Amino acid sequence: MPEISKKGQRMPASPIRKLTPFADKAKQEGKKVYHLNIGQPDIETPEGMLNAIKNIDFNIWAYTPSEGTLSYREKLAEYYNKLGYDITPQDIIVTAGGSEAITIALMTCLDEGDEIIIPEPFYANYNGFANQGGIVVKPILSYIENGFALPPISEFEKLITEKTKAIFICSPNNPTGYLYTREELEALKEICLKYDLYLFSDEAYREFCYDGRTFTSPMHLEGIDDNVIVLDTVSKRYSACGARLGCLITKNKSVWATALKFAQARLSPGMVEQIAGEAAVDTPDSYFEAVNAEYTARRDTLVNALNKMDGVYCTSPGGAFYIVARLPIDDADKFCQWLLESFTYQNQTVMLAPATGFYSTQGAGLNEVRLAYVLNVDDLKKAIQVLEEALKVYPGRA
Ligand SMILES: Cc1ncc(COP(=O)(O)O)c(C=O)c1O
Repeated sequence: MPEISKKGQRMPASPIRKLTPFADKAKQEGKKVYHLNIGQPDIETPEGMLNAIKNIDFNIWAYTPSEGTLSYREKLAEYYNKLGYDITPQDIIVTAGGSEAITIALMTCLDEGDEIIIPEPFYANYNGFANQGGIVVKPILSYIENGFALPPISEFEKLITEKTKAIFICSPNNPTGYLYTREELEALKEICLKYDLYLFSDEAYREFCYDGRTFTSPMHLEGIDDNVIVLDTVSKRYSACGARLGCLITKNKSVWATALKFAQARLSPGMVEQIAGEAAVDTPDSYFEAVNAEYTARRDTLVNALNKMDGVYCTSPGGAFYIVARLPIDDADKFCQWLLESFTYQNQTVMLAPATGFYSTQGAGLNEVRLAYVLNVDDLKKAIQVLEEALKVYPGRA
């Protein structure tokens, strides 16, 4: 049999999805499984976005320009400029989700063997995207005690070599929910300018900021236009994960032109999706106000209940819809599998994501799990009760 590529062999399986067979088996056995493991929101997609594609009138389901239709990019520029990004449609390339935007940006800016620094824990698929381009991820630990704030800049400097090409951030963060302050971003700006590094900014959760906190993007900073690449998606913003619609934004013309070549090689983003995306920009503020109120209530429910449990610790994140909690357990992977395979409370169990999958540093996150608050408050309360009962009897309790 012909050999599988080295890249293919190195490609990591999704740490979030690897427990799915155990969850399926638990369900076949008749158990109710509460899913707190995956970032698929249960929030309804805005009506205007759905209506836009219900009665589209077209005869040919055609390719669109590789950078996306002008009318969608114009509408997107309107959206970003309301946020103060000061961009034009010519700074945007429309992609198939945030995932393709990240892949194209990495391929555009980094060569095989180049290094990228990412504060960890981080969104696990960054490892897969980097692997596709032979890019080396240099993780930098952030800590649960301060809510996973930006590590000191001196720690970044220790990791910088002649191979370092970029720093990659995600704010509000998946998996920690941490929202970087303007001061933290200014500090990152200084280091990027000092060492001439790209600053990748994954803003998938931009709309989800709580307690009156405001979102700051590197796009808001002065004097760093050539270094910044924003990666975005409609997946979470409009609860439209299946639309597979995202974009890359940069004011660096060489980066844009090179990214376009990668975009041309895959021909075009979806036509129907861009029609939906264009309508989505007109989603009223009231939609986001209601969604954020709901997520805040869920976060508070979860944070309060978790911290009341013996040996459990988490901070209250400023954004996104995830929490990383420390549990009194020996091994998060074992615990999450045990929950599905061996535990029930009133014929119910709960599915969590072991935090180990979000760290590159060996052994980090062993006693941490990520919880996605994508269930309503009533179901969340039931899921938390299940977790509390499980921790009382888990054989590997530490
Ligand atoms: C931080 C982050 N970036 C990017 C993505 C990818 O999103 P998309 O569905 O747009 O490919 C996700 C999806 O969960 C995410 O959490």
